[in-house]
Amino acid sequence: MSARPRRAALVTAAAAIVALAAACGGGGSSASSPLPTGAQAHDPTVLAGRKVFSAECATCHGSGGQGGVGPTFNDGRLLRDFPNPSDQVTFVSQGKGVMPAFAGVLTPTQLAEVVAYERKVLSKRR
Ligand code: HEC
Repeated sequence: MSARPRRAALVTAAAAIVALAAACGGGGSSASSPLPTGAQAHDPTVLAGRKVFSAECATCHGSGGQGGVGPTFNDGRLLRDFPNPSDQVTFVSQGKGVMPAFAGVLTPTQLAEVVAYERKVLSKRR
């Protein structure tokens, strides 16, 4: 019975944190997101995904994917939670709770790019 107002307060608090981070300039990502290295250094999909991540995701997930309002990606969780990359595309399209839905915000190509960046670069950071 009292679960609803509490959840609303949580969402409001998270939104306030996001607004605060945005107000600090650069979407809270003063450090730029890591460039791909090695075989992926010139992969156009991963490079494009880095731009999408910096613009749309770093505010909540951290510029290096270290986490913040949203969970870290540096612990390999994406490969565990989404063995198939297309499941991760579906998740990002639909959102969940505080995580916004990005269908209609990002094109299918951009969704695939940002998912590739998160899996190939941010998942392997320590
Ligand atoms: C307003 C903050 C916010 C923004 C912006 C945001 N996320 Fe999230 N994200 C979250 C939160 C909070 C969760 C945890 C959702 C849950 O499980 O309830 C999450 C979860 C996720 C997960 C699932 C992680 C897992 O292993 O379960 C993925 C993948 C993800 N986000 C990708 C993205 C991508 C890609 C973007 C940018 C296009 C993005 N997020 C932008 C807040 C955000």
